[in-house]
Amino acid sequence: MNKIVIAIDGHSSCGKSTMAKELAKQIGYTYIDSGAMYRAVTLFCLQNKLFSGDTLDLERLKKEIQSIRITFVKNPETGQSDTYLNGKNVEREIRGMGVANKVSPVAAVGFVREEMVKQQQAMGLEKGIVMDGRDIGTVVFPNAELKIFVTASPEIRAQRRLEELIAKGENTSFEDVLHNLTTRDHIDSTRKDGPLKQAEDAVVLDNSDLTITEQNQQLLALFSEKI
Ligand code: DC
Repeated sequence: MNKIVIAIDGHSSCGKSTMAKELAKQIGYTYIDSGAMYRAVTLFCLQNKLFSGDTLDLERLKKEIQSIRITFVKNPETGQSDTYLNGKNVEREIRGMGVANKVSPVAAVGFVREEMVKQQQAMGLEKGIVMDGRDIGTVVFPNAELKIFVTASPEIRAQRRLEELIAKGENTSFEDVLHNLTTRDHIDSTRKDGPLKQAEDAVVLDNSDLTITEQNQQLLALFSEKI
């Protein structure tokens, strides 16, 4: 059977990665988390002091961007892929609020997107992938055979994200998480390069009132229709 490319885009914290991971597992495809790549670049900026307050040193980042290598390596303990930044496992660090609060301005930089899109397209050459992000169906794989655009109400997304962060031991509040995700949505939707927007041929999935099982069933049905 011919393999296809599945692009899953949508707002922050609406469960894209959970659904993309599960779908990939069920159909034997490779899951790629493009947001993790922008998070890893952001961590690089923080570690190398490229931020001064909210100001990013674009000149230095431009010089460094070619040397930033992001890879995904399967973790035998969890069975999931971990994100590596220049050979170091940064999976845990990139998920905290420190990175979340700085990632949108980094992801809005044109030359950062250009480099990430190039790396993402290389990962999709063989097809058989499920990639989630913001511009996968519009910019990275405009010819993807199946495109899904996921959303849910901001309050439901903030509550889900808060529970995840608390489970990881992070000390934060509902208001902070809600503010972070609505700010990210705004920056992501209004930036010039690769803005978050629904591809014309994407299927919209609002999962505000869906369980994870119901959501997976809908995705599997869409996949079966396509192939
Ligand atoms: O999906 P996520 O929340 O881990 O993504 C982190 C940030 O990266 C998010 O604020 C938007 C940005 N992003 C992007 O601009 N393009 C993508 N393809 C994926 C993520």
